[in-house]
Amino acid sequence: MEATTSLLDAAAVGDLVLLDPLTEESLLHTLQERFRHSDIYTYIGNVVISVNPYQSLPIYTPEKVQEYHNCNFFAVKPHIYAIADDAYRSLRDRDRDQCILITGESGAGKTEASKLVMSYVAAVCSKGEEVDKVKEQLLQSNPVLEAFGNAKTIRNDNSSRFGKYMDVEFDFKGEPLGGVISNYLLEKSRIVRHVKGERNFHIFYQLLAGGSAQLLQQLKLHQDCRHYGYLNRESSGLPGMDDAANFRAMQDAMRVIGFSPAEVTALLEVTAVVLKLGNVQLSSSFQASGMEACSIAETQELQEICQLIGLDPSILEQALCSRTVKARDEMVRTTLSVPQGYYGRDALAKNIYSRLFDWLVNRINTSIQVKPGKQRKVMGVLDIYGFEIFQDNGFEQFIINYCNEKLQQIFILMTLKEEQEEYIREGIQWTPVEFFDNSIICNLIENSKCGILAMLDEECLRPGVVNEDTFLTKLNQLFATHKHYESKETQNAQHVMDASLPSQCFRIHHYAGKVTYNVTGFIEKNNDLLFRDLSQAMWASQHALLHSLFPEGDPQKVSLKLPPTASFQFKASVATLMKNLYSKNPNYIRCIKPNETKTAMLFTPELVLAQIRYLGLMENVRVRRAGYAFRQLYDSFLERYKMLSPRTWPRWTGSHREGTEVLLADLAFPPEELAFGHTKIFIRSPRTLFDLERRRQERVAELATLIQKIFRGWRCRTQYQLMRKSQIIISAWFRGHMEKNKYKQMKRSALIIQAYARGWKARRAYRRYFRSGASTRLANFIYRRLVQKFLVGLARNLPPLLVLDRTWPPAPYKFLADANQELRSIFYRWKCKKYREQLTPQRRALLQAKLHASELFKDKKALYSISPVPSLQQPFQGEYLGLTQNPKYQKLHAVAKDKLVMADTVRKVNRANGKAVPRLLLLTTEHLVLADPKAAQPKTVLSLGDIHSISVTRFSDGFLALHLKETSTGGAKGDFLLISDHLIELVTRLHQTLMDATAQALPLHITDQYGFSTRFPKGAMAITVVESDKVGSNIPVCKKRGSNKMEVLVH
Ligand SMILES: Nc1ncnc2c1ncn2[C@@H]1O[C@H](COP(=O)(O)OP(=O)(O)OP(=O)(O)O)[C@@H](O)[C@H]1O
Ligand SMILES: [Mg+2]
Repeated sequence: MEATTSLLDAAAVGDLVLLDPLTEESLLHTLQERFRHSDIYTYIGNVVISVNPYQSLPIYTPEKVQEYHNCNFFAVKPHIYAIADDAYRSLRDRDRDQCILITGESGAGKTEASKLVMSYVAAVCSKGEEVDKVKEQLLQSNPVLEAFGNAKTIRNDNSSRFGKYMDVEFDFKGEPLGGVISNYLLEKSRIVRHVKGERNFHIFYQLLAGGSAQLLQQLKLHQDCRHYGYLNRESSGLPGMDDAANFRAMQDAMRVIGFSPAEVTALLEVTAVVLKLGNVQLSSSFQASGMEACSIAETQELQEICQLIGLDPSILEQALCSRTVKARDEMVRTTLSVPQGYYGRDALAKNIYSRLFDWLVNRINTSIQVKPGKQRKVMGVLDIYGFEIFQDNGFEQFIINYCNEKLQQIFILMTLKEEQEEYIREGIQWTPVEFFDNSIICNLIENSKCGILAMLDEECLRPGVVNEDTFLTKLNQLFATHKHYESKETQNAQHVMDASLPSQCFRIHHYAGKVTYNVTGFIEKNNDLLFRDLSQAMWASQHALLHSLFPEGDPQKVSLKLPPTASFQFKASVATLMKNLYSKNPNYIRCIKPNETKTAMLFTPELVLAQIRYLGLMENVRVRRAGYAFRQLYDSFLERYKMLSPRTWPRWTGSHREGTEVLLADLAFPPEELAFGHTKIFIRSPRTLFDLERRRQERVAELATLIQKIFRGWRCRTQYQLMRKSQIIISAWFRGHMEKNKYKQMKRSALIIQAYARGWKARRAYRRYFRSGASTRLANFIYRRLVQKFLVGLARNLPPLLVLDRTWPPAPYKFLADANQELRSIFYRWKCKKYREQLTPQRRALLQAKLHASELFKDKKALYSISPVPSLQQPFQGEYLGLTQNPKYQKLHAVAKDKLVMADTVRKVNRANGKAVPRLLLLTTEHLVLADPKAAQPKTVLSLGDIHSISVTRFSDGFLALHLKETSTGGAKGDFLLISDHLIELVTRLHQTLMDATAQALPLHITDQYGFSTRFPKGAMAITVVESDKVGSNIPVCKKRGSNKMEVLVH
């Protein structure tokens, strides 16, 4: 098992709990051996000890991340990733808020460890565009905060000069949502002063080295660090640190976090102002009153500052060189001495910078904060400045070490004190392990009534002469007999000779060693006062960011209340932090610094031993060894592991404790591995727990398979049953349908057969009652009856006998239709015959003439249809002249005698001029006679045989051309053009007479307007018929047009 090789390595065990024998030497030796093999991480249970290698090791690769992802804590080599993974999984799977406490002295590797934890968590939690953005923002907050909050110290080139606690917030799936950063007490005195060999905050060097020429010009800065008083006029270079590259990285990080370019510029402008303030030189001058007063020695720098922040230089000059004081309700301006002026200037620079740093943290928080309302789990990572012992320790070191003391207290409380108390509470047999409880030191410092910090505050607020001497005297009185407090005075009282403790100092025996603090500056730093004139001057500036940093500079808000002291604020924020940490599940990373020279892989045993002692590692191991690695309430334990025994799975009905006992008895662990408390089960070694977890995992996998199996079986079964049921229903319906069809078919066939059979049987049975042919006779009888009825009905209701009446009743039955039609035509013909028979010969002749006229003219000449002539009521008269009555026509009458067919008056058209002259026309059975009406003498007598043809127009006129045969005697005169009022009758009678005489039809031409040609003795003449719209009696009118053309106007 890998756990054996990693943790039980004989030479250097991975978990110090397994160390045998357990002595300080063996522990130190183990750490040294492991360090020699580059194993910088070692466990004490679940506490990780990390020894700073001061060189980069290949143990932080993505492959390593994968190796530790979801690993079992005890199955892999000790690594910071393992504790990060354990914390992350506990947060995600067990829903417990976590905090990772990283402690150790300055340079021990806390900041690096915190970054490793963060990057590990970022690497293993899920990916996605939004999540990656959050992760990037959280990670990128480091370079920005390090640039502004870290500096090179003697102990550490990248020492954190502020405390940082970062809460990373996750959702229920373990995806990061955002975070909140809290910062603690920035060491702002570094702005104006730092010891030789150290540096100011990184940002100043980064800005000068990495800022482009244009940026520096914009910020009115010189590239050379030696130009600036606050940078100690030292050269900037630091081996292994590329300030320019770091500046670019910082700018990139700001962009990722979400700083706008304007914000970055504003930030750098304020930074530049701080740097330039250090170059504002003051000089003394004498006033008229003879008093010494300070003034600006050289105004160039001051003016540039004022240009950068948009402020009138005179305001800043006045604020730097004088001060307004209130004297008896009156504001009096007093000038400052040069040291006072420098004090004010430095206080301003420190204040600007520390407020800028707070703004920066807030600004980052705005970007990474989680929207309210989301449910979250929190992983807090604490990276606070480490314990510090310098040659000369001041207020800052006192505060820093107090904070570390508090963290040690948490550690003691949670790992040593509370654990032992729990064993006793739970009734577990226990031999108490001695350990040093540092609450006495914490109390010495923080006691609200008589602690050092309370005394300092009291001294600061006390009216009258206040200085460090009175403060120290007070401490000496109060803590004269305190075991952890020492000063020259207390030593003297105890007759102890100690040259290392000067009179201006007091010494505290911290958990990590004795530290001598020089009280000089304690009061001033604790008061942290900034002359009101300066804050008002800053508030008055046009620079929005700077203006916002000094809200108390608003003259409207002048308050006489003193601001809270630095120590008061710090104590309060440490108390909040402690409360926060107590509420979470702690995970410890204890960093150890192996040498003082930052040398790679150098292990100084004495130095490490000192840390082993003050970190209380021996006690930690002892408690861990004597104690139990794991404890859990019976109900939770049983709930988690009950599946490991068939007696407790799936349900245990007894008490939780009994269930746990039964379960563990079944698992057969050695009895010394277990202890049963009142409410909790205790398991001694991590390996037993690991074994339990492994068995649980296997069993859970088995159970999952079982559930899967049963579920799959159930699913398949139900699906099969469903399909089967459906199939049965479908086939039942189908069969039913088939059978129904078959049955219907059979029924139909049976019925037919039945019908035939029954018919056949009935016919056979009744045959003898039938007379053959009865039906035909019946039918015939019925037919006859119907026909008879039809005929009789018809005879009774015969239609009228009028020839023109064609009505006839319809056939009452279809079979009578043909007969009815026949009867109808017979009846009609009979009706006509009857009509004809009653006609007189004259009437018949007349009708024949009409018929003839109809054949000749119907639908051919317009005159026929408009003339009243064709109607039977208007018979052809034939004799219109009254030959017999009029004696004048005696002669003519004699000519015609019995042969007269028609006598009428016509007009003859003169061929020469087209004029018409009246003539009497007589038609006999042989001749056509034209006579002069006056003389009643025949003028022209034509034999009918001479007539060749007749031409008439198609219009309603009475114009006609009588074409004569060329060979005839009468024809010598040429054709006749006549106009008759009885044209239809004339032509018809002529045609009829000729037909009767010669049995030949007289050709009749009915022409249109193109006319025809006539023949005259002088030659042929073209007659053109012209349709005229003139209505007059003399129509038609003939007009001669030229010698052989004549127009006939008709209508
Ligand atoms: N795991 C590590 N691997 C390689 N080098 C490391 C590791 N941890 C720390 N270091 C080195 O040690 C130096 C100091 O570490 P770090 O800044 O983390 O100390 P710190 O404990 O935060 O000190 P301070 O209290 O002064 O801030 C780092 O700059 C780095 O060079
Ligand atoms: Mg640090």
